[in-house]
Amino acid sequence: MIVVTGATGNVGAHVVKELAAAGAEVRALTRDPEAARFPDGVQAARTDDLPLEGATGLFLHAAVTWQAGAEKLLERAKEAGVRRIVMLSSSSVLENNDPQTNPIGVMHRELETQVERTGLEWTHVRPGAFAVNALQWADQIKAGDVVYGAHARAHMAPIHEADMGAVAARAFLSDDLVGQAPELTGPESLTFADQVRVIGEVIGRPLRYEEIPAEVAREKMVGGFVTPEIADSLLRVFGALVDRPQTISPEVERITGRPPRTFADWAAENAPAFR
Ligand SMILES: NC(=O)c1ccc[n+]([C@@H]2O[C@H](COP(=O)([O-])OP(=O)(O)OC[C@H]3O[C@@H](n4cnc5c(N)ncnc54)[C@H](OP(=O)(O)O)[C@@H]3O)[C@@H](O)[C@H]2O)c1
Repeated sequence: MIVVTGATGNVGAHVVKELAAAGAEVRALTRDPEAARFPDGVQAARTDDLPLEGATGLFLHAAVTWQAGAEKLLERAKEAGVRRIVMLSSSSVLENNDPQTNPIGVMHRELETQVERTGLEWTHVRPGAFAVNALQWADQIKAGDVVYGAHARAHMAPIHEADMGAVAARAFLSDDLVGQAPELTGPESLTFADQVRVIGEVIGRPLRYEEIPAEVAREKMVGGFVTPEIADSLLRVFGALVDRPQTISPEVERITGRPPRTFADWAAENAPAFR
């Protein structure tokens, strides 16, 4: 039995789907099991109950784990007989680990370390920027052809959530990734301005990204898991990525046997969100 936290989320939903398709027993955790829709055969359970009985594998969504209490969750996992933990971490752990400038990296690295200390088998999946972050622009794109945001020329290599889900599922379904921390990217380095242009090409409109000061963008970013501290950290990261094309990781293809999906693929699948 593999227990998936954050199971309705961008990545968790794909982890659940891939594991279920491979015939694994899956328990999917959510705050609202009645409302959640999972593939046939998947058990839905309440995150707050931390239902780990019978689990041999645990997929950890970092932010959900912090909310639940990481120490308690990992202790329960050991007691329940979990043998392997696959954590959705972040490539920010690979950058400088100063809590002042990189709280996201520090927080994820702390959780990785806690996982390693359990003595259980582990895999840390370390993605960079998600393609799905582009949904933050959906309201602006529905309302007009200009997207306002900070650092138009900041580069990232957006990764499709299905590719992260496929890698995480692989980490449970084979022993190949035990003790590994693959860094994941999409297949191409794109600036924010490029991403908006690609969405425009896909939906057939001449969209453009117009840069605004970081302090103004910050106000729009705060909400959900994004605290003011996280927003500041992200803006610092974006500032450092201006005019710096990103190195593309070979890991998605090495692990899943297929090249990572492009940002245009992602935009085409999500076009209704922008129309
Ligand atoms: N976005 C990026 O570019 C990026 C890059 C690298 C790493 N990451 C990391 O990846 C993770 C985000 O993954 P994701 O996009 O798959 O997550 P997500 O979709 O934002 O959230 C996953 C699930 O968490 C649950 N949730 C939301 N708020 C909660 C709360 N306050 N307490 C408990 N559960 C809550 C929701 O499920 P229910 O409503 O069903 O409970 C949601 O579906 C974060 O740890 C982030 O640091 C993100």
